[in-house]
Amino acid sequence: MELTVHTSSPYKIILARGCLDRAGEYAAGLFRPGTRTVVVSDSNVAPLYAERVASSLGAAGFSVGTFEFPAGETSKRLSTVEAMYRSFAENGLTRSDFAVALGGGVTGDMAGFASATWLRGIRFIQIPTSLLAQIDSSIGGKTGVDILQGKNLVGAFHQPSLVLIDPRTLETLPPRFFADGMGEAVKHGCIKSRPLFDRIRDTDVRADMERVIAENLAIKRAAVEQDEFDNGERMLLNFGHTFGHALEKLHGYRGLSHGQAVGIGMVMMARCGEKAGLTEPGTADEIAGVLRKYGLPVSDGADVSKIVDTAMLDKKARGGVLSLVMLRKIGESFLRPVDKAGLLKLAEALR
Ligand SMILES: NC(=O)c1ccc[n+]([C@@H]2O[C@H](COP(=O)([O-])OP(=O)(O)OC[C@H]3O[C@@H](n4cnc5c(N)ncnc54)[C@H](O)[C@@H]3O)[C@@H](O)[C@H]2O)c1
Repeated sequence: MELTVHTSSPYKIILARGCLDRAGEYAAGLFRPGTRTVVVSDSNVAPLYAERVASSLGAAGFSVGTFEFPAGETSKRLSTVEAMYRSFAENGLTRSDFAVALGGGVTGDMAGFASATWLRGIRFIQIPTSLLAQIDSSIGGKTGVDILQGKNLVGAFHQPSLVLIDPRTLETLPPRFFADGMGEAVKHGCIKSRPLFDRIRDTDVRADMERVIAENLAIKRAAVEQDEFDNGERMLLNFGHTFGHALEKLHGYRGLSHGQAVGIGMVMMARCGEKAGLTEPGTADEIAGVLRKYGLPVSDGADVSKIVDTAMLDKKARGGVLSLVMLRKIGESFLRPVDKAGLLKLAEALR
């Protein structure tokens, strides 16, 4: 399957089994032979796939270097990006060359950020290998790194030139990261598609992975096309993030993964909505049921006042006002601006 994302610089997404081994062919449609590239991947993904991608690019006539960093969110910081810049320099990447992000969301966000800033911007290709990256983070051009004060606080909008999604890579993805990706898929169903939510709940998604990825891509693409710079429609993708980000922070970014935290955040927000008469009764329990199916937690013992205080520090708060993403019912979402008092009132439902 092939689709185009119509942003300020449009690009194609290829979803096909085996496309990772044809990276060279696809890149040859965008770059001249002899162009230089560096394939960026982490210490788990590199041994599995970097050589295959590099040899495909080499066979297509590109001059290929590789850069590897230790896997994990703790690597997603400026010191890793600086090491990446050194590799770009050693491999002689100029403004007409490109980088390749081969891996999960951490690799994509960081290699994307390095591409946005190296020589004030070079092009890059996303080859996402985790479920989360295939249905969410590789599309839309949000790139960045974490600093001590919080996740993704430093970044840039920089769209990829091409996204190659090979569902076969999911065969080597550890189950807990597969579950994280399913958390994002549940989120997409919650905000936009009751049929997707029902399929995730009622079927074995692994039996029809390409269809599930395609449905998620359609939702992500539409949000990005309508609102590339995240000022309106795209914010709906943040369902579960207000409380989720707060929980991640309260756990010191160690106890809970992003997918787990967002899952709990979705259930919490649905409960708040139900109590306030804004969300169809039973929605929170329904979300919790499907998260449990994929081994994701649905509650957390953190103190509600602390969660609210931390949520108000979220980078998405503008002038003391947060745009909460709430559900009318599964498949229908809306934005509701609240100040701290408003959030505290809603959060009473959680005590
Ligand atoms: N840019 C965006 O729009 C956006 C959206 C959502 C999340 N994110 C970011 O994405 C990150 C999380 O992404 P993630 O869950 O993919 O994390 P990740 O990149 O750390 O990947 C998860 C783990 O799976 C391993 N892995 C990946 N693919 C594999 C494969 N095919 N086989 C074996 N192991 C594999 C990785 O080495 C890692 O250990 C966070 O930093 C988050 O902030 C970005």
